Amino acid sequence: MKNVIIINGPNLNLLGERETGVYGTVTYADMCAEIAESAESMGFDSCETVQTSHEGEIIDYIHAARLDKCGIVINPGAYTHYSYAIRDAVAAVNIPVIEVHLSNIHAREDFRHKSVIAPVCAGQICGLGKIGYVLALQALLDILARMRGDLL
Ligand code: DQA
Repeated sequence: MKNVIIINGPNLNLLGERETGVYGTVTYADMCAEIAESAESMGFDSCETVQTSHEGEIIDYIHAARLDKCGIVINPGAYTHYSYAIRDAVAAVNIPVIEVHLSNIHAREDFRHKSVIAPVCAGQICGLGKIGYVLALQALLDILARMRGDLL
């Protein structure tokens, strides 16, 4: 079963009203609806989208995903830059994880240039806005196909 979870971290629930010059005016709800639609048309059986501003809850979602999901797309928000606990959770699970950022973290403040989580992810997509989540889903399909040996 191709079940995927998209985990969004702190402050992402405020999309559409938060720093619109950086993150745009699309609301969190509209973004999730668009991603879910894309996931369905890509052939995923389910695409759960969750948001929490709590580090421990993000870790719980990652742990739970290993039991019934084929992959994780995660935007850890500001935790990206310093949460070794989330990094360890990603490293602990045996399913592919892709890190996504709406903004180009490399073009912003110095503290955003480093992700402590990306090194244990299959890859990182940033700076492309909400389409980054759709690209991550596409990449997950490719990774899963390779894991099954469908692609060389
Ligand atoms: C973000 C980038 C982070 O630096 C920031 O703290 C966020 C959003 C992004 O999607 O661009 O909350 O993860």
